[in-house]
Amino acid sequence: MDKQIVLTGIKPTGMPHIGNYLGAIKPALSLSEKYESRFFIADYHSLNSIKDPGELRGYTYEIAACWLACGLDPERVLFYRQSDVPETFELTTMIMAFTSKGLMNRAHAYKAQLDINREKGKPDDHNINMGLYTYPVLMAADILLFDTNYVPVGRDQVQHIEMAADIAEAVNRNYNESLLTIPEAYVSESTQTVIGMDGRKMSKSYGNTIPLFLPEKQLKKLLNKIVTNSQEVDEPKDPDRCNVFALYKLFATKEEQDVLAARYRAGGMGWGHAKAELFEVMNRTIKPMRDRYDELMADKSYIDDALARGAEKARVLAAAKISRLRKAMGVDR
Ligand code: TRP
Repeated sequence: MDKQIVLTGIKPTGMPHIGNYLGAIKPALSLSEKYESRFFIADYHSLNSIKDPGELRGYTYEIAACWLACGLDPERVLFYRQSDVPETFELTTMIMAFTSKGLMNRAHAYKAQLDINREKGKPDDHNINMGLYTYPVLMAADILLFDTNYVPVGRDQVQHIEMAADIAEAVNRNYNESLLTIPEAYVSESTQTVIGMDGRKMSKSYGNTIPLFLPEKQLKKLLNKIVTNSQEVDEPKDPDRCNVFALYKLFATKEEQDVLAARYRAGGMGWGHAKAELFEVMNRTIKPMRDRYDELMADKSYIDDALARGAEKARVLAAAKISRLRKAMGVDR
C-alpha cells in the first residue's frame, strides 16, 4: 500500500443520488484500495444550513449507511464523524490566525450566496453566517489535521483545497518547519457526467436526481418519468440522443448496450420498454447495496459502533498532531 494519505469529507445533506455514487462514492472507494484513506462525515459543515436537529441526525445516519452499503470497510478506511474529533476545532482556531480575511472573501461557497443576494436585491450579508464565511478554514483543519496528501473532490471544491494549502504554507513559513503537509486536490479525469431525469447534469439544484437507495417500486416509478421525445412505438429511435439510453450505458454491459441500441434503431419499441430495461440493469447493481443499506438503517448499532471506533483511532492521530503544533506555537506548558 502506498504511504500517501487520501482524505475526503462528506457533508450530510440528504441521500446521495446516482450521480454522487458514480462520480464521487465509487471513485473514492477505489482510491481507498491503493492509499491509506480517511473518510469522514462533515456534520459541522452541514450545521451551517441544517438547523433542525432531527434532520441533521437523520442525514448523518443516512450518509454513513450509504458509504458502508457501497462498500466502505471501516477496518481498512478510517471512518469517523467530524464532530467526534474535537481536535479539528482546536486546529481551526490555530489556523484562523494564519488566514487572511481577503482569502475568505474569495471563497466559492460564500460568493455563491453573495451572488444570490445581489440577484435578489438583498443586502450582501443576508443569509450568511460565520460558519459559511469561514467554511474553508474548518475544511482546511479537517485536511491538515491528518497529514493529507490527496483530497478527492469535485471541481467545485478545488479552490477550498488550494486555500488549505495556502494556509499550511503560511504556518510552515512562520515556524520555519514542515509542521503541516501540503494537500493537493485529486479530481479524477474520468468522471463521466451523469445526466438527470431531464437530460441536464444530475444535480440537486436542478431537481432532476435519482436517489441512490429508493425502494424498488419508487425507483421504477421514477424512471418512468425520465423525459423522452414524443416518437411513436413503431418509429426507429436514436439511442445516442436519448436520456434513458444515456443512463442505461452506465449500468449495462457492452453486449446489453448493443442489443438495446439495435432495438431502438429497428423501431417497434416504445419508451416504456426502454425504461423497463433501464430499471433491470440499474436495480441489478443497486439491489445488494440497497438491501445492506436498509439493514444498517433498521438497526443503527453497526453504524454507531463503526463511527465510535473510527473516532477513537482518529483522535489518537489528531492528538499527536495538536500537541506538536501547540509546542511549535508556544501554547504548551
Ligand atoms: N466541502 C465539502 C463538500 O461540500 C465537504 C468537506 C468538508 C470536505 N471538509 C472536507 C471535503 C475536507 C474534503 C476534505 O463537498
